[in-house]
Amino acid sequence: MAKIIGGVTTSHIPAVGNAISDGVTQEHYWKRFFDGYQPVHAWLDEKKPDVIIVVYNDHGLNFFLDKAPTFAIGCADQYENADEGWGLKPTAPFTGDAQFSWHLAESLIEQEFDMCTCQEMLVDHGFVNPVRVLYGDHEHWPVKTIPLAVNTVQHPLPSAKRCFKLGQALKQAIESYPEDINVAVVGTGGMSHQLQGERAGIIDVDYDLACMDSVINDPAWFYNQSNAEIIEKAGTEGIETIMWLVMRGALGDKVNCLHKHYHAPISNTGAGVLLLEAADE
Ligand code: DHB
Ligand code: FE
Repeated sequence: MAKIIGGVTTSHIPAVGNAISDGVTQEHYWKRFFDGYQPVHAWLDEKKPDVIIVVYNDHGLNFFLDKAPTFAIGCADQYENADEGWGLKPTAPFTGDAQFSWHLAESLIEQEFDMCTCQEMLVDHGFVNPVRVLYGDHEHWPVKTIPLAVNTVQHPLPSAKRCFKLGQALKQAIESYPEDINVAVVGTGGMSHQLQGERAGIIDVDYDLACMDSVINDPAWFYNQSNAEIIEKAGTEGIETIMWLVMRGALGDKVNCLHKHYHAPISNTGAGVLLLEAADE
């Protein structure tokens, strides 16, 4: 049977992709940010998940404001990077696992999460940069990837609690897949940031750190906030962090935190890295 071996969180900002492409990850501005991933790289090297499910938000590329599914899952064997204006990076197409995706979609829909199923799906920085920051660039990716999109752009958005429950359903969906594969779930985006308007540039470090602790030890604190409360504290795009709760819901009641790292500001955001494994219950 498929097994969930862990969960990771990461930023997705476009500038991260530029830093990787330009080879400047060890320069002063970026060094601390990228060094925060070293224990995650070591863990991925050791555990070698067969598939990572990347919970991300599309920023107006595959879904525009006229059609915005609340939850969507890629059901393809390949996904192309087609970023919508932050600069297209020459990234090899990502390898999917359509058979596993369809199992996940069936199970989630049976559990009353009515996913939009996408047999074609273009991916933007929300998906591409998390994979690149975790694995580096490859001609042939060493891992299969499944994009799971959450609408954090066009209101009304799903609640944080709904995202957590989607994660719980995802756990059941993964663990009912009969193939012996190891799966990691990646929660992407966040943390606090607002890209426009009077409050552009806000970052609340204390709030971000409280959210990270909550994701580890007490996800209810995070998911019991309304979206309005999260946006008030974290900014309009800070709401992206609700996607971390999908990852957390998939790991079960208790987790061991193997690594935690926070860096701010990076571009316009606070950036948090977590590496979690399910604790034996
Ligand atoms: C930035 C952050 C985002 O989440 C995004 O989608 C685009 C840009 C930024 O901080 O630069
Ligand atoms: Fe974003």
